[in-house]
Amino acid sequence: MLKGNSLLCLLDLEKEDIERIMEVSFLMKNFVKTNSVPKSLDGKRVALIFEKPSTRTRVSMESAIYLLGGYPIVLNKSDIQLSRGEPVEDTARVLARFVHGIGARVLSHESLIKLKEYSGLPVINLLSNLSHPLQALADFMTIKEKFGTYEKPIAFVGDGGDNVLVSLMAFVAKMGLELRVASPKELRPKPEIWKRIEEESEKSGAIIEFYDDPYFAVRGSFVVYTDVWVSMGEENIANKKKELLKNYRVTTDLMRYASKDAIFMHCLPAMRGEEVDAEVIDGKQSVVWDEAENRLYTAMSVLSLFI
Ligand code: CP
Ligand code: NVA
Repeated sequence: MLKGNSLLCLLDLEKEDIERIMEVSFLMKNFVKTNSVPKSLDGKRVALIFEKPSTRTRVSMESAIYLLGGYPIVLNKSDIQLSRGEPVEDTARVLARFVHGIGARVLSHESLIKLKEYSGLPVINLLSNLSHPLQALADFMTIKEKFGTYEKPIAFVGDGGDNVLVSLMAFVAKMGLELRVASPKELRPKPEIWKRIEEESEKSGAIIEFYDDPYFAVRGSFVVYTDVWVSMGEENIANKKKELLKNYRVTTDLMRYASKDAIFMHCLPAMRGEEVDAEVIDGKQSVVWDEAENRLYTAMSVLSLFI
């Protein structure tokens, strides 16, 4: 039973929980297309805190809450007392008196843990420095739609410490799938999170391998995935990261090494000419707009199951 629980990291869930979220995501897509969405959030208010900018997450969450019959309250950091130094703990305790659940995009993952502890409400991670679970759920929904299965080798090219990559790895580790990551040695997942991913992979039989050379990682894969080289909050190390990642761009040439049926994925927003060439992201193999649309259905699934 997921009701009342929080979704901070996919590694905290059981495999069956992830399967249930995915199943309900597909149902939600059908309900939206047939205009028959069950009002499972009827009378419920959900606060959505944003400490960083957002397009997809904000619009998909707000739309999802509205479609499920609930009321979203968007709180951009600059508009609330958090920006004047009110502690996260106090914000959480106050929100608990008004709303039934919290979604939060935070600078530090620690803030999500505090929001959960001090509000006692279900808290949904809308992206932190560590992970982005809602993105990975929509990505695997897209993979299943395209291939009829999750069991296709995936290659991620770019920042090995990326928050979206951590959530992709968590999904792969829980579900026993295969992922190859091409990234420079300097950019690898934090040891604590990698330890948990390895433990889960051992249990499920998942294979997650790191390569220095993007051509080796991409060879024979059915999905080529990348994310921005410089994530939000990393502006101070932008030049260093761009230098480290300059040979990890997804180009038309690199795509030729993947399976001929391979798809290109990106969580967006994208920087054309940095992590991906325009011909790839705007080309025939790209499924980025379907991926973005699926954020709505996975958000509806998570909201209806957890809140
Ligand atoms: N992919 C994603 O989370 O996009 P936003 O930053 O626009 O929400
Ligand atoms: N890694 C990116 C993802 C944006 C959706 C960031 O954190 O900025």
